[in-house]
Amino acid sequence: MTQPVVTARNLSRHYESGGGMFSQRQVVRALSEASFSIDPGKTLAVVGESGCGKSTLARLITLIEEPTAGEFTICGTPGVPENWDSLRSQVQIVFQDPYGSLNLRHRVGSIIEEPLKIKRPDMPAAERASKAREMMEMVGLRPEHYDRFPHMFSGGQRQRIAIARALILEPKLLVLDEPVSALDLSIQSQVLNLLLDLQERMELAYLFISHDLSVVRHVADDVVVMYLGRPVERGSKEAVFGAPRHPYTVALLSATPSADPTRHRNRIKLEGELPSPLDIPAGCPFAPRCWKAQDRCRTERPELGDAAHAAACFYPEGTETA
Ligand SMILES: Nc1ncnc2c1ncn2[C@@H]1O[C@H](COP(=O)(O)OP(=O)(O)O)[C@@H](O)[C@H]1O
Ligand SMILES: [Mg+2]
Repeated sequence: MTQPVVTARNLSRHYESGGGMFSQRQVVRALSEASFSIDPGKTLAVVGESGCGKSTLARLITLIEEPTAGEFTICGTPGVPENWDSLRSQVQIVFQDPYGSLNLRHRVGSIIEEPLKIKRPDMPAAERASKAREMMEMVGLRPEHYDRFPHMFSGGQRQRIAIARALILEPKLLVLDEPVSALDLSIQSQVLNLLLDLQERMELAYLFISHDLSVVRHVADDVVVMYLGRPVERGSKEAVFGAPRHPYTVALLSATPSADPTRHRNRIKLEGELPSPLDIPAGCPFAPRCWKAQDRCRTERPELGDAAHAAACFYPEGTETA
């Protein structure tokens, strides 16, 4: 059996806020009990509305922050702070906004080489430069771009620079946090196809975060749907898109145009506001907005469980709404 590149078990991250002289201390439950694994060469997509905990999960897996509960491994090694130094070259991140994540005063070559300078300080400059140039070619940048500054590039090209820098240490796992959300539609598909091509060439595992289901449909092998910091459905892309089980997933999908015009979905309009993560409902977090909710859903929280296609719901959909 292949060893997963990443495994996560009940990962949670809660933040304390307030607690000053004038405010009560409150707990923001940004992420609660996320479990999943990703095999080499595979993409797990994490979807959900803004604020559901996607970037928080990204920060845990990329060793920026510690979980407040739960555990994870990268290439079999526990992701605890003692191991962060040695694990950092195995996992890299690409953010949504290449402007915010690139040092605009550095030239492209130097930006891409920076992780090598830090992680392999003994590598001769010429070797570093040749690795950067090789990486540039792989992501579709031209040799003359080496000496240019990020502001001279379009958004899509800047994202190529960010991808080259993330891959220069040959990581096993790339965490992509809304990597194409800031790009024009036509550029989005170019960057997504590049990512798919690189994945195959380097056998990369992707943790791909997006609020956009059409993007997820394009890239995912498996999907986790999040709601208010909790995974509410998990399964293969075919299972989750083809036969969604959690009412929230059904609602999300109903709002997205189907790639297959022969299938009709009734558009479900969710009632009510997304609750605050400071005040997550008891029971099922989705119950206040769910058209199927019963008394039990408001008092008892359904578990996601370990099934290949799992939904944290007492009354899951058996079939797709037609
Ligand atoms: N450092 C923090 N302190 C307090 N609350 C935070 C912090 N980081 C994130 N949150 C809150 O956690 C929730 C999840 O945020 P985030 O992971 O950024 O969601 P997403 O990426 O899905 O939009 C949000 O309500 C956000 O305001
Ligand atoms: Mg985010």
